[in-house]
Amino acid sequence: MSVVIETRNLNVNSGSQQILSNVSLAVAGSAINTIVGPSGSGKSTLIRTFNRLTDLYPRLRVGGEVLFHGKSVRDYNVMELRRRIGLVFQKPNPFPMSVYDNVAFGPRLHLSLKKAEIDTLVEESLRHAGLYDEMSGNLDKNALELSGGQQQRLCIARALAVQPEVLMMDEPTSSLDPIAKSKIEDLMLLLKEEYTVVLVTHDIDQANRVSDTVKLLYNGRMVEYESPEVLRMPEYEHARQFVMKLAR
Ligand SMILES: Nc1ncnc2c1ncn2[C@@H]1O[C@H](COP(=O)(O)OP(=O)(O)OP(=O)(O)O)[C@@H](O)[C@H]1O
Ligand SMILES: [Mg+2]
Repeated sequence: MSVVIETRNLNVNSGSQQILSNVSLAVAGSAINTIVGPSGSGKSTLIRTFNRLTDLYPRLRVGGEVLFHGKSVRDYNVMELRRRIGLVFQKPNPFPMSVYDNVAFGPRLHLSLKKAEIDTLVEESLRHAGLYDEMSGNLDKNALELSGGQQQRLCIARALAVQPEVLMMDEPTSSLDPIAKSKIEDLMLLLKEEYTVVLVTHDIDQANRVSDTVKLLYNGRMVEYESPEVLRMPEYEHARQFVMKLAR
């Protein structure tokens, strides 16, 4: 297993609250690394430390180490770090512009490419995200006119267009119907051949369907659920319910 991202004794504090406590984990390359846990357990905060989106919240104090390819994320240029570790949000958030411009947005900003090269990249990214054929040459359409599932695949295409290494998805299917959801799950399975995927989900069945590894976060701590002593503690009752549903 190649380790792409690693945290060591990661702590995140908001002043009034300890959000993450001593989280140490490894994200494996070319795999779907899933994080589950109850609402408020710190999942989104955890993955935001990976590409330093936590820097955008002045109250958050991050302690311990987050390493990307063995080097502290603090030692990367932050724009470069966020290009290499992309994030797709729960709610599709296409920009109010054409499908083409949505996907070309990042490459225009980050990569110095000619128009023809951007055209190719836009097409490839849309194909990868399983949206190209559906758009059938209609790339001028305003992205806000797409369905929710199409918008989410567009956001995935937009994330892929800057040629990241890691694609993080924070509950990417929670607002989608079962068909759109299964398309995105199929897509994740394809993407892991070329990318490292970090998935946050509330959907335990989804976690069981697509994941190579599943980690449980509970009250800001990683629960070693292979270790039965931990789960016998009364305070882990809720965590235990999660674990019962996880495929072994
Ligand atoms: N920028 C912030 N400033 C202060 N507190 C924060 C900040 N971001 C998150 N928190 C707190 O940290 C805790 C964890 O939040 P987080 O969004 O990481 O949870 P989550 O596991 O992603 O939950 P959900 O499943 O509902 O998305 C919450 O109590 C939240 O209020
Ligand atoms: Mg969240």
